[in-house]
Amino acid sequence: MNAPLPQRLSEDARTLKKLDLNLRRNKQQDHTTLLDQASKDFSWEAAKSEYWCPEEFSLMHGTPLWNESTADQKRVLNQLYWVAYYSQIISAEIATIFFNQTSAAGLYGVEDFRVVCDTLDMESTQERAHINAFKVVGEATEKALFGGRVFTYPMRTPYAETMIYSDATPFKAWWKKLQLRTYTLLSSSNAFIACQYFTVRGIRTLSGKLIQHQLSMAHTKHAFPEASALPAKISYYHFMDESYHFNSSNIISHDIIKCLPKPTAFEARVANMTLAGCQRDHQGFSVGVRGIFWHDPALFEPLLKVLMSPIYGMDRAAALAMIERCFCQDNDGVQSAYATHKTALESYKQYLADLDYVDAHNKEMRHMARASVEGYLKTNRRAFERFAA
Ligand SMILES: [Fe+2]
Ligand SMILES: [Fe+2]
Repeated sequence: MNAPLPQRLSEDARTLKKLDLNLRRNKQQDHTTLLDQASKDFSWEAAKSEYWCPEEFSLMHGTPLWNESTADQKRVLNQLYWVAYYSQIISAEIATIFFNQTSAAGLYGVEDFRVVCDTLDMESTQERAHINAFKVVGEATEKALFGGRVFTYPMRTPYAETMIYSDATPFKAWWKKLQLRTYTLLSSSNAFIACQYFTVRGIRTLSGKLIQHQLSMAHTKHAFPEASALPAKISYYHFMDESYHFNSSNIISHDIIKCLPKPTAFEARVANMTLAGCQRDHQGFSVGVRGIFWHDPALFEPLLKVLMSPIYGMDRAAALAMIERCFCQDNDGVQSAYATHKTALESYKQYLADLDYVDAHNKEMRHMARASVEGYLKTNRRAFERFAA
């Protein structure tokens, strides 16, 4: 017996209207030109005396390092948050461009899905401008401060580990690459998996949306917004583009998916595996860069570089002692990073609540919910012993 034909998207006028409107508004407000101009105009000299983010979004905010820094050092930590945070976003957006394309290939095979594919094309073009702006500012800043890279890295392919500071062992990295390649093939040839990618994208960008909204305020809430530093403006332009991307993730994963036949057991299994992967990636929280799910022991090395650079001028022993106090002993930075993680977890649960194919492990975010301050400190202490030896 033939499988039932999908309901045509053209019969769902409400969803089509939402999609059309989202694409039209994104085109009208597109910030690509402004971002490209900002990338061209960026000068470290012109931006170096300003904060680029609201104060609580500074590298190591709330830790002993932050509390004991001078005003000049705090300003550098604030700028380094911007560099480190958007270095992670570059990696996530390289992956997004790729999966927008494979998913569009899968969805173009269904009647009436052109508007979905046009939306994804537009978003991918915008991501390239975002990546360029983050890269130009990040690299110029690190060159001026350290004479080379600390958090930035050369251009990479979408098959590289998305989380730039993770606990991936070579075996885990190899296994993930294999899964990614399989998912690529599936999403480009299966409309349900292609649609479901936007559930993953929606979740992955949910906490980003919360953080990036606050980062954009360094521009919007500036006493004279026009005079805000260019990186603060870039945060704002980026947040504006991303709000449309988040809308499209939401429409595709919650409304459009209903135009497709119910998933088979295999499709539901693949969907739940990808959501479980998301939980694993977002299981940790970072005191270094609040709002990012990094494995903090992987940050010891770059932080050592910062502390031993002329900015702090510490010797190795003093730098290690500071790392131990910040990452291995409870402090305000640890508590607020944990609180941000909890907010992210609750918002993920809400996002998945009305999706029937999602299993309890993912609906309740059971893996992610295992994160705790005690567990965090224990992992760091164990890693620090090896690091300092
Ligand atoms: Fe982006
Ligand atoms: Fe985006």
